[in-house]
Amino acid sequence: MSTLLSVRDLVVEVPAQNIKIIDGISFDLKAGETLGLVGESGCGKSMTCYAIANMLPKGVVHTQGKIDFCNHNATAPATAKPSIAMIFQDPTSSLNPVHTIGYYLQSTLARHQNLKGNDARMEAIRLLERVGINQAKQGLKAYPHQFSGGMNQRVMIAHALAAKPQLLIADEPTTALDVTMQAQILHLLEELKAETGMALIIVSHDLGVIARLADKAAVMYCGKITEAAPVADLLKKPVHPYARALIGCMPSINPENLEPPVPIPGAVPMLNDLPDGCYFHPRCAHARDVCGQVFPSPTPVNHAHTVSCYYPVVS
Ligand SMILES: Nc1ncnc2c1ncn2[C@@H]1O[C@H](COP(=O)(O)OP(=O)(O)OP(=O)(O)O)[C@@H](O)[C@H]1O
Ligand code: SF4
Ligand SMILES: [Mg+2]
Repeated sequence: MSTLLSVRDLVVEVPAQNIKIIDGISFDLKAGETLGLVGESGCGKSMTCYAIANMLPKGVVHTQGKIDFCNHNATAPATAKPSIAMIFQDPTSSLNPVHTIGYYLQSTLARHQNLKGNDARMEAIRLLERVGINQAKQGLKAYPHQFSGGMNQRVMIAHALAAKPQLLIADEPTTALDVTMQAQILHLLEELKAETGMALIIVSHDLGVIARLADKAAVMYCGKITEAAPVADLLKKPVHPYARALIGCMPSINPENLEPPVPIPGAVPMLNDLPDGCYFHPRCAHARDVCGQVFPSPTPVNHAHTVSCYYPVVS
């Protein structure tokens, strides 16, 4: 499989606050592959996605490093460009309340597929049906507030598909939904991936979601990737103390093994007051003197597994 997306030494800063939100991360994604991004709140998962989609908020700037998205030709017409689509955590507030679902889908179909009038309407109906919206024809006339959160997430996915993306970025797509709706949306994403061959970046706090969808995963902490590996290796054999601690926080629903989750002591440091050395060292049970001096560089555990830690836990 060819490389679809290459991120090299990406740095994203907020110059007005003199902070680095993303600090030198690198990864590759092949066509059809799924990357899971995990980490505590504020570690930079969403900003990584926004940087890739070229949607960074005002005041947040991509200052260093390269993001290469396959054969992207800035002068090509929108219909010919390989595209990136994004879906968000809270679908209802991500949709414009003054436009109907039909307007929302058809304007994107016009831009990305050059479809107009009845052709755009028919394709919008087909997309809504594909994502499991019953009575799709009537759905075109509805406003977002008339749909449930789960239905609006399906609309967001239909909208993403209207752009025929080669890469879909899903930032916490199921966090705001109840468990049955979560399972349906995950199943839909799996089906669409298989059908379209698109690559996926999925952000989730829920390691179960990452285990289910991702081929590989990266753990982020304070804007850095601390460990990256094929998903089975990362979840079964994590070596970074932070990744191990995150997995230790997961509640078990296995009645044979109802060990209580173990919280990570302390809190994520503020980006304007990062500790010297490894950013995790004030919270790490394995820390020694060197950990508080210089940030550890990424080193290979094996060919596809890297870790930034002086004392990875291999057991
Ligand atoms: N518009 C902004 N201006 C300045 N800093 C911001 C802005 N948006 C986010 N940040 C900061 O950037 C850092 C990374 O935020 P980001 O939203 O990427 O975190 P996250 O990992 O997605 O967290 P969560 O799991 O809560 O969604 C945080 O410290 C956050 O406070
Ligand atoms: S480098 Fe040191 S402080 Fe950081 S995670 Fe590894 S052992 Fe812990
Ligand atoms: Mg986020």
